Amino acid sequence: APARVLRPLLLLILCSTLVLQSHGGGIIIKGGTVVSADSSHLADVLIEDGLVQAVGLSLKGDSSTRIIDAKGKLVMPGGIDPHTHLDAPMMNSISSDDFFSGQGAALAGGTTMVIDFALPVDGDIAKGFKRYQEVTKRSVMDYGLHMAVTTWNEKVSSDMQKLTKQGINSFKFFLAYKGAMAVTDEQLLNGLRRAKELGALPMIHCENAEALIDAQQRTFDAGFTGPEGHYISRPAVLEDEGTARALYLAQYVNTPIYIVHVMSKGAASLIADAKLRGQRVIGETIASGIAAVEGKIWDPDFKEAAKYVMSPPIRSPEHQEGLKAAVAGGVLDIVATDHCPWNSTQKRAGIHDFRAIPNGVNGIEERMHITWDTLVKPGVITPSDFVRITSTNVAKAFNLYPKKGVIAAGSDADIIIMDPTAKHTISASTHHSRIDTNIYEGREITGQVEMTISQGNVVWEKGELNVKEGAGRFIKLPTGGELFDGLAEQDAAAIAKAFPYGVPGQPVKRDLREAG
Ligand code: URP
Ligand code: ZN
Ligand code: ZN
Ligand code: ZN
Repeated sequence: APARVLRPLLLLILCSTLVLQSHGGGIIIKGGTVVSADSSHLADVLIEDGLVQAVGLSLKGDSSTRIIDAKGKLVMPGGIDPHTHLDAPMMNSISSDDFFSGQGAALAGGTTMVIDFALPVDGDIAKGFKRYQEVTKRSVMDYGLHMAVTTWNEKVSSDMQKLTKQGINSFKFFLAYKGAMAVTDEQLLNGLRRAKELGALPMIHCENAEALIDAQQRTFDAGFTGPEGHYISRPAVLEDEGTARALYLAQYVNTPIYIVHVMSKGAASLIADAKLRGQRVIGETIASGIAAVEGKIWDPDFKEAAKYVMSPPIRSPEHQEGLKAAVAGGVLDIVATDHCPWNSTQKRAGIHDFRAIPNGVNGIEERMHITWDTLVKPGVITPSDFVRITSTNVAKAFNLYPKKGVIAAGSDADIIIMDPTAKHTISASTHHSRIDTNIYEGREITGQVEMTISQGNVVWEKGELNVKEGAGRFIKLPTGGELFDGLAEQDAAAIAKAFPYGVPGQPVKRDLREAG
């Protein structure tokens, strides 16, 4: 708790020193409305040396300062997307955006940091981390990594600790994908305990792996071999079951958890229930979950239908309305993307069997616009809420706040300028991802990110990207933090009450000779 007060204070002191030492060459964003997670106000923003130096009225630079006019525009923290799969080896292929193309697309859409899911190599998370240290060298903006845990043994357990010392503070568990990445309940329990011990946040893909195999076979045998078979074989009840199981096992272990890509309204309700029980849960939905692209998986054209194949599937309007309400009501904390792009040639691997279609949709470039257009424009949430769910809450969940997730003196200068009234149309012909399709093709959006500033540099302006390969920095994410504060006290109290698995006092001594 003291860190909450001290950190901003330190930043303030740091900032005033830096302003005194100003040597020009910076940027002033003038006259815009600066939006944070709790308020909006007219202010200028002075940027220098990659940091926000000051936020206030009538800020002045020198002759070398670039002045950017932001009258009538919104000045917001850059988006942080905590759910991407760049350069990801999955389903016998590698996702089509690497850390160069994917992050370029992100910047063009107003996202200035991703936390990507590093995958193990043959279950080995240390080897997996090494691979990602290589492939992330192409990065053009700040990034962090989560690590997926897909099996359980002594080495995984000790490597988890090693990785936390190298900047990983979250581990992902898949309850789905039997035969590939799925963990059993026993492996999950081990993983949850270990993550808790390390102060690392467990993230869970919630679907019942066993039932999915059953449903897929029955769907295929019934003749639904195309992309719609994917949708049919992943009913909401299997997501709800996985979500309930993950939440209850997290309660049993008493660890905070993060539920990724919530796609069913039932799963959102379960998260609400868990929060009411006092559990520390972070709920994430994704742009495709709320953006009304449902139904297209039934398109007679395989190429068109296959591009919507992702897990859990994009669900009916009823679910999407439930998810939007859950975001508005604070049950779901984050809108991410699960950007996992596959070319139509890659999707063709499943032309005769939906089970072989690589799972995943685009979104890294579209998330900010889709979220704005879907939730802010119709008045469901406010611009402050928008900042909260696309940036601030992510920064807080992964111990990045207030370095990221807010425009304040001392924070990283990752900033977007948005014209809330400008219109544009999404298309694969103009997007920056490498894939040849876009699930939002033809969608007209109100609101446009006109400028993106990353690490204090203008990298997206007038429709042009200006990025440098290798400029991206690996941001080490520290373990612990507020999500873990007080757990030891809670555990001690639970043991005293013999709940859920406590040992109060001593076992009862019984004379068993007579009992036999
Ligand atoms: O279909 C999806 N979501 N692909 C990416 C992997 C995952 O499950 O997040
Ligand atoms: Zn300076
Ligand atoms: Zn997943
Ligand atoms: Zn994912």
